[in-house]
Amino acid sequence: MSWIFRADKNGDGMKCYLDNVDTVERNLKDAGCDETLVKEFIKLIKTGERKRQLRMLEKHRSNLLEEIHKNEKKIECLDYLVCQMEKKMGKKIVVLSTSPRMGGNSEMMADAFIRGAAEAGHEAEKIHLYDKKIEFCKGCLACQHTGACVIRDDAAVIVEQMRQADVLVFATPIYFYEMSGQMKTLLDRTNPLFPGEYAFRDIYLLAASADEEASSMDGAVKGLEGWISCFEQAHLSGVIRGAGADKKGEIENVPEALNAAYEFGRNV
Ligand SMILES: Cc1cc2nc3c(=O)[nH]c(=O)nc-3n(C[C@H](O)[C@H](O)[C@H](O)COP(=O)(O)O)c2cc1C
Repeated sequence: MSWIFRADKNGDGMKCYLDNVDTVERNLKDAGCDETLVKEFIKLIKTGERKRQLRMLEKHRSNLLEEIHKNEKKIECLDYLVCQMEKKMGKKIVVLSTSPRMGGNSEMMADAFIRGAAEAGHEAEKIHLYDKKIEFCKGCLACQHTGACVIRDDAAVIVEQMRQADVLVFATPIYFYEMSGQMKTLLDRTNPLFPGEYAFRDIYLLAASADEEASSMDGAVKGLEGWISCFEQAHLSGVIRGAGADKKGEIENVPEALNAAYEFGRNV
């Protein structure tokens, strides 16, 4: 379509413009007027009935506006459907169990979260680090240019899974009032994600400590917050402090922590 908006070049006003019937006709057609309207309008140029002409243009304009509103309504209906479908589809959750102790307290919290998430229709995958080979970041920063790490070990696959997840859940034991070394090592190895796109938005932390004070998790929370601050679209959506669980399985004595993990999963 060509956009004309032709006016008379002489600046003589309406009379001169309307004298150029070809230009008027092209403008009317470009404005979407049908043949009948165009013919009628041009007939009225000769009789000089300007008021009727203006009424015709106003009518056509209001028809166009109505069409726009109808289309806006169609778009709103489509957006509503998409929104409802996305709600139903369920989120992709990656749960990182970072304790070296298989089936330990933090992993039990992770399992409770997964149970809740599965019941709510989400797709949750647990990745435990106790059987993975993940070396320390070398700090070469090659990944900032290439998007990939120079080290060939299990981190590459895990980091890619993290990149694609909507939700990340970190389960960790408290070691010397911090997150586990395994978790910190993995976080450092996510540096290839830093310059690019990532899907994750909600991050959860599930921590277990022998200490009964909730504050025993503060170091781990702060550490994870530091990592999250480097991924602007993500935020810490919840922390569960499984305090007062030392030996394997003792988290069962802290049912409120397991229940809270389950509820987080259900409401993720
Ligand atoms: C090396 C090491 C350091 C620990 N440091 C702390 C600590 O600083 N504070 C604490 O409350 N518990 C500490 N603990 C106890 C663990 O946090 C506790 O046993 C926790 O339940 C382990 O979780 P897991 O079963 O998921 O591995 C430590 C345990 C180990 C092995």
